[in-house]
Amino acid sequence: MIPNHDNGHEIRSGNVVCTKTGEKFEIINGALYLISSDDINNFQKKDQIEVNNFNRRIDEQKKNGTIPKEFLASEEAYLKETEARTDFLFSSLIYQGTANRFVLEIGAGDTKITQKFSELGFNCFALDFAEYRICQDSDEYFKNKGKYFERVIALMNKLPFQDHFFDIVISHASLHHATPTMMENFEWFNPDNMLDTLSEIKRVLKPKESGGIFIATGEGVYPDDILPENRKLEHTAMTGGPYEAHYTMSEYISLFKKVGLFPTFFSNAIDGNLTLNGYLQDGRKIDLIKAQNYISKDALHFFSNVCEKNSKPDDVQELFPNWISLRNYEDLENVHLNFPFLIDFSKVYSDIMFSGFSGIEPQGRWTEGEKANIIFLKKFPESFKVQIDAYAFGPNIGKRIPVSVGSITKELILSDKIKTYYLSFNGVIPTHELVITVPNPVSPQELHRSNDNRKIGVFLHKMIISR
Ligand SMILES: C[S@@+](CC[C@H](N)C(=O)[O-])C[C@H]1O[C@@H](n2cnc3c(N)ncnc32)[C@H](O)[C@@H]1O
Repeated sequence: MIPNHDNGHEIRSGNVVCTKTGEKFEIINGALYLISSDDINNFQKKDQIEVNNFNRRIDEQKKNGTIPKEFLASEEAYLKETEARTDFLFSSLIYQGTANRFVLEIGAGDTKITQKFSELGFNCFALDFAEYRICQDSDEYFKNKGKYFERVIALMNKLPFQDHFFDIVISHASLHHATPTMMENFEWFNPDNMLDTLSEIKRVLKPKESGGIFIATGEGVYPDDILPENRKLEHTAMTGGPYEAHYTMSEYISLFKKVGLFPTFFSNAIDGNLTLNGYLQDGRKIDLIKAQNYISKDALHFFSNVCEKNSKPDDVQELFPNWISLRNYEDLENVHLNFPFLIDFSKVYSDIMFSGFSGIEPQGRWTEGEKANIIFLKKFPESFKVQIDAYAFGPNIGKRIPVSVGSITKELILSDKIKTYYLSFNGVIPTHELVITVPNPVSPQELHRSNDNRKIGVFLHKMIISR
């Protein structure tokens, strides 16, 4: 491994010669090209060209103003989701000794995550088999920040690094693109397609006992009972589309077991909902966050609270190597909500976390399951009023619906039409959370009204918290 920068001066061009094989590799525009033509398989060859062409075209269209508006909207949504899935790494964790630690991002794309680790002082390597995006976006970062990280053009299934070198290996939305080094080992729908890449990650990562962690975020997860014909991404790839596969959680787990490497953090990428789990190295799963919402930056400050709530503190401790700890948000303990505090349930907020809710709809969102929690960055004071615009579904209509803040519980009785209701809370021990307990979560499917199988109960349109 050769660093392509030297004392803050980037090496923009030149050659690197492998001392073992004598093979020569080029540095082009500061990126080190480490793919031998023998190593790259057919999928990779085709996608490498397509990814580069696609990204070049996008940048040209942006420059000359011909980029479709819908593309910009979907790009913005993707960036938001990426941030939602990864921001806990930067807002909730504290890293010690970053100047002596190494981070590798595989399938780094726009290098946004690498940039954030670099900001924290880590020595970073962004790796991708397609050079255009990683080079463009990191050049921009280098120019603005005067800081460098390595760009390596290589295959994630053949990582050009020495054993046990990295403290963190991270993938965002890239692991599931993995294909085997030898094309004859490839099989459609087979999670073993990721085997070479995971084995390589394990090899280049420090062992867990020496502090190494693997982070797989934004992975595509199919439901466990998916039928082969519904594996849409693979069917697209079979007809000539880019190679991408999703897997069921059981498939991921059995592969992690086989390789002997579990991600310390694993987050999915389904419809903008975030499920973040931790895995201990014996495979025990720790539920960290399940939020049916784009989790925003500030809301993730609750990570530590949520961790403690969803899992045993000892497990959480075991999850982190001793150089990583959870940020303590005690400094927010005495800050109260500003009144009036309005929640439009069709919107995303940076200081609220929703759990137990279904996806956003134009008028608001449904509770899903027995408990719907609204967790605020700031605390409720002792006394306040809550205005709620809502209606209920099926057997929940006309039933008592408890709404609790701390130890104080009030009740709502809702009709099947949207109406405004008022609740007064007094003597509350200041807390961050409002909980709605749904008496009969039920799906429209169970009531033979539609195919919708979400167990819904209360539709929330608006809430105003005031004095
Ligand atoms: C869905 S994109 C994710 C990019 C970035 N991590 C993000 O979240 O925006 C997948 C990335 O993986 C890269 N990639 C796919 N297969 C690869 C392989 N075998 N080796 C290295 N990079 C690969 C692609 O070029 C692309 O940049």
